[in-house]
Amino acid sequence: MSGARTGLPLLGGLLLGVLINFLLFAPPDESTIACPAASIAEFVDSAEHWVVNQEKTPQSPPADAKQGPQVVRARFAATELGIRERILVLVWAETGRLAVALNGTLAKHVSRVVALADSARLDVETSLLPSLIPFKSNSLHAHTHILNAVFNYTLQENYDWFLIMKESTYINPFLLQEMINKMSWSEKVILGVPDSSNVGRCILEAGILLSNPTMQMLIQQRHVCNNMLAASDEQGMEMCIYAATNVSCRGEHQGQEYRYWHVSGTDAPHEELQRWAMESPSLNSSLSVGSILSTADSSALHDHFIRVEVDKVEAEISQLEEEIEGMGEDLPDGPSWPVGTKPYAHAPNRYQVPVWEYFTSTEIFKNEPNQNVRALEGSDKEDIDEIIEEARRRVEEEEGKRSLEFVRISGGYRQWDAARGMDYMVDLVYRDVDTEEILERRVHLARIIERTTLVNTVPYVKEDADLTIVVPIAEEVEVLPARRLLARQARLCTSPAEENRHTRVVVAVSSRVETKSVVFIQNDLEELKKRCKRSSLEASLLSVSSDTATSLHAAEALDEAIDHFGPQSMFLLLSPYADIQKELLDRARINTIKKFQVFLPIPFIEYHPTIAGMDLKDGEKPDDESTRQRALGTLKDPAPPQRTKGLMVQKEHGRFDPLDFSVVCIYGSDYMEVRPRLMRGKRVDVGSAFLNMPPGIHVLRAIEPALRLRYHRRECDPDLEEEDLLRCTQSRRENLAAKDQLARLVFNKE
Ligand SMILES: *[C@@H]1O[C@H](CO)[C@@H](O)[C@H](O)[C@H]1NC(C)=O
Ligand SMILES: *[C@@H]1O[C@H](CO)[C@@H](O)[C@H](O)[C@H]1NC(C)=O
Ligand SMILES: *[C@@H]1O[C@H](CO)[C@@H](O)[C@H](O)[C@H]1NC(C)=O
Ligand SMILES: *[C@@H]1O[C@H](CO)[C@@H](O)[C@H](O)[C@H]1NC(C)=O
Repeated sequence: MSGARTGLPLLGGLLLGVLINFLLFAPPDESTIACPAASIAEFVDSAEHWVVNQEKTPQSPPADAKQGPQVVRARFAATELGIRERILVLVWAETGRLAVALNGTLAKHVSRVVALADSARLDVETSLLPSLIPFKSNSLHAHTHILNAVFNYTLQENYDWFLIMKESTYINPFLLQEMINKMSWSEKVILGVPDSSNVGRCILEAGILLSNPTMQMLIQQRHVCNNMLAASDEQGMEMCIYAATNVSCRGEHQGQEYRYWHVSGTDAPHEELQRWAMESPSLNSSLSVGSILSTADSSALHDHFIRVEVDKVEAEISQLEEEIEGMGEDLPDGPSWPVGTKPYAHAPNRYQVPVWEYFTSTEIFKNEPNQNVRALEGSDKEDIDEIIEEARRRVEEEEGKRSLEFVRISGGYRQWDAARGMDYMVDLVYRDVDTEEILERRVHLARIIERTTLVNTVPYVKEDADLTIVVPIAEEVEVLPARRLLARQARLCTSPAEENRHTRVVVAVSSRVETKSVVFIQNDLEELKKRCKRSSLEASLLSVSSDTATSLHAAEALDEAIDHFGPQSMFLLLSPYADIQKELLDRARINTIKKFQVFLPIPFIEYHPTIAGMDLKDGEKPDDESTRQRALGTLKDPAPPQRTKGLMVQKEHGRFDPLDFSVVCIYGSDYMEVRPRLMRGKRVDVGSAFLNMPPGIHVLRAIEPALRLRYHRRECDPDLEEEDLLRCTQSRRENLAAKDQLARLVFNKE
């Protein structure tokens, strides 16, 4: 009908358009229009004249024919793309002792540290350095041997910058990083401290920084140095670098200055450091310090430069904070508080307004549907006590001059924002001791979410695990609900969806159930098997010969099922009152992980149908006096309540009960680890045994709309452990009906 209704105007419009078109733009000469029907009639099938020309496939050249030179591919993509590491530090280790300390201070900050040592002088400690290159110098021309070694290991190719230094030099790694990051490595440049007596050379003691092209040149031309005569090895190296590269030493390049702090012979830096730092501003900005004599010097210098760096970063942070505060004036929402955190969330609409919880020093008003005030205790109390203490400290610090006496807190609010953290407002009451004046102060505090970590060891799960559904029937009264559950299960699997996963339904009947009922269930299972043949569902009946308490029957059913089907399988323990949808099984498969996670869905519990007004016929109003009287009458009747409306996940129909643990999905092997706990005391549900799981196993609790529990009178075993009994009675009370529904029944309107 509706299709025709929308189609008619459309067709009318179309016809009108064609008509107007025809009237306005009528063709001037009728004879020139070719009739389209005629052209279809003249259709000629020309396919019979087609000739198929198949092109010859091009012949591949013979394998042995070499066409031009073969391309040599580099072993690593980085080599081919010319991507290099940032900096290589070549340490000339004469004694080796200080090289180890240097490795400690420098290795973390640069790409690589290579120690070059004369193999004749190697000691045990030095030989443990991870990248040590020994060379044999025969005490002659050590610099040529060093350069040969660099060439042998092709070290000159893979770095942008090279620092050649002696082990008796300390290098400030933070400044080194900053410097090379600001300069371009592609120019021919040698940086260092120019030697005043020998023009063009750098002093090796201060360290010499070479860019990649100069290093390449030095290695290629190193034969220049072979017969060079020098007073010492050190001078030989200085001379060699200048002679081979023909690049003069520079103290400054592209705005970056190579600063060196010279230690005169008798000074020990670890003793003099404090004085130097106070007296001379240039120490803090030095790149290298030399010569040092001991590892104590090296670590003292390193500590000092770390302090300088930390101070610098802190100064930068406070400057940034100031800037952000200044900019905040121009932002529409003002600056966020604290600076740099996510601002308060705006309410997306008028239904999702963020809720502030009010608290006093003894009570807290939470946003719960059935209870508005609770005593302030447990973690809430700890949280708020800490906040009050912090707020008081703050106020008393600010009002340091006045002598104030804390009277009480007059109240406070807190709000949770999952992206920001917890925000608080606290009102404090003080009395001025001198003037007897009462003053109130409001303090805002925030507990920001700071360190978030990703759980990186979550195992991979798939939706195709085999699942065994266990339905325990402990008493005769549970037979009917369980049969209904089986009937619904049969309807679920008649859906045509392809199913290659394995699902098994197991009904575990206790010996208290009558034989007649067992036969019924047996027949139901046969029927279920027949209907679900396509989805390869298995169904079986287990009888559990138990005479223990009803509350333990679920555990025993699970034991029996694990005995039968092995502990490697996944088990979903269902209540016989459950009303499930297909999605529950999918989610159970995903959310249960062997040795890692147990899934305890929070079910939607149906309210008492009569009290909730679910047995009303069309046109009957729940607040009529006659309806009320009838409902009160029905409640006295022992027969189970009936409903006329379908059960939906809505607030008049029922509620999600966070205290219900009757449905569990778990691997058999995990269950067996927890099993001994159930023997200790008497417990109500298997689920509550999982509340404190063994370490490493998580509990996933989540609201599950595909799992509904039909209304039933819940019995709370008085022998239960106190905590479980409390939970059971509270759950039973709250699950009866909503407060307004109860009120409608109990209170007369007049
Ligand atoms: C050298 O430094 C690296 C990186 O800090 C460290 O892993 C290594 O153990 C150090 N070697 C020695 C011998 O101290
Ligand atoms: C470099 O390699 C050559 C030839 O393989 C070898 O004779 C020489 O000793 C090596 N030099 C060093 C310092 O390893
Ligand atoms: C070295 O460089 C200078 C100028 O930079 C040049 O005059 C001289 O010829 C060069 N020497 C050699 C051997 O290349
Ligand atoms: C050098 O840095 C230290 C540590 O940050 C600091 O205490 C000292 O005042 C600085 N010296 C100068 C001259 O700025």
